Amino acid sequence: MTSVLATPPAGSDLRPVPCSHRNSVLEIMSMRRDPFAFSDRRLAEFGPVSGLDAFGVQMVISGNPRAAQELLMNKERAFANGPAWSHFIGPFFNRGIMLLDFDEHRHHRHILQQAFGTTALKGYLQEMQPMIADRVAGLPVGTVKLFEQFKALTLDVALEVFLGLDLPKDEADRINKAFIDTVRAGVAYVRKPVPGGRWWKGLRSRKVLEEFFYAHIPAKRARETPDLFSVLCHAESDEGHTFTDEDVVNHMIFVLMAAHDTSTITMTQMAYHMARHPEWQERARAESLGLGPELGYDGLGEMTALDLILKESLRLCPPVPAQPRMAVRDTSFQGFFVPKGTIVTISQLASHRDPEFFTNPDMFDPERFSPERAEDKSHRFAWMPFGGGVHKCIGLYFGQMEIKTILHHLLRGFEWSVPADYQIPMDYSALPVPADKLPVTLRRR
Ligand code: HEM
Repeated sequence: MTSVLATPPAGSDLRPVPCSHRNSVLEIMSMRRDPFAFSDRRLAEFGPVSGLDAFGVQMVISGNPRAAQELLMNKERAFANGPAWSHFIGPFFNRGIMLLDFDEHRHHRHILQQAFGTTALKGYLQEMQPMIADRVAGLPVGTVKLFEQFKALTLDVALEVFLGLDLPKDEADRINKAFIDTVRAGVAYVRKPVPGGRWWKGLRSRKVLEEFFYAHIPAKRARETPDLFSVLCHAESDEGHTFTDEDVVNHMIFVLMAAHDTSTITMTQMAYHMARHPEWQERARAESLGLGPELGYDGLGEMTALDLILKESLRLCPPVPAQPRMAVRDTSFQGFFVPKGTIVTISQLASHRDPEFFTNPDMFDPERFSPERAEDKSHRFAWMPFGGGVHKCIGLYFGQMEIKTILHHLLRGFEWSVPADYQIPMDYSALPVPADKLPVTLRRR
């Protein structure tokens, strides 16, 4: 039975958001189980914008580029990030940049941007290249779960490039563990600090990370080094504003989280598609062999095939599959009435497969991003794995640089394959990860 989320005020020409009376737990479970079937069903039943009661929170969902543009550009400043994202990852990523809004967000983003400019990126590449080359060369062969390998590698890169600290193994393990527990807590089902539970562990781990970063700040402030931690301690806006110790700690913890799973998921998807389509693996390998062992910053732009694979993998499986915002006052969205306090979410999982913008949208077809076809340009928000508007991913160049560097070394040193009938079993209950961790047959070349 169809009902409405809220009745528009008398005299308003806005439409009410249609929603169902279905049990909200079952509805959320069906979304997590198969988000594609879920959005197809809702599109057929309610149209492009529909409402949902998500465990007592009013939610509006939509999955097309026009809706994404309206929400993310936020022209009327009617939607905020902080209260929406806090609902999911609140206490663990307190005052991370993505959870700040409006003038305060602009102020912090301006300073943070210093850490992601070309000069800083070149420095990070120089830091991470030898370590990645070394770690990839040491990969095991035979049946290897690539997702696990990528996850461990990106965490080590993060510790090296972001922290720039030579930690004893015990200490590195302790910080890694605290970091993993903090990230896991965000997707806990039981969202209360029950001793031993994920939420509880997350809160304790957040404390471990805070203490760790605070302890290292004096040394980082005293001497500049080419890592993110140091850059944040010294970054200054044009007006001379700098981050407080508390800001540095909050941003470090958030950026570590934002950088980690997103890059791992992307590489896993790329490796999967290259295993299923060996002709693309060969094309990408030929380019990497042509570029020589050490990938320079300029070489990144010459990896045309890998770039097409990257874009298509991000289209089919955007690592951050949806973006929520909260209405800070009664407002409109796509001509519908949205009351204050509603969480409005746009889904890239759905919009990236919209046949209005992508031909055969379920097919792996990297050439759709070629200059001749440029399907991603069919609408400004047709392809948006990195989001859009003022909160657009600040690490998009760093992420692509890291992913390309790791795959460059993997392609040069190894070949990999999956059985002809293998389909990656995806788990969409939090960020999209392969339930089987992507086992491949890895051989040295
Ligand atoms: C392929 C990899 C990545 C993808 C697909 C991705 C995706 C996204 C998306 C969709 C957002 C916007 C969220 C929103 O508007 O609500 C975002 C924000 C952000 N990302 Fe990424 N990300 C990736 C890698 C990284 C990396 C490597 C870093 C850091 C080095 C990073 C740091 C951030 C930060 C700090 C924000 C918040 C920006 C703000 O609120 O101003 N991301 N990312």
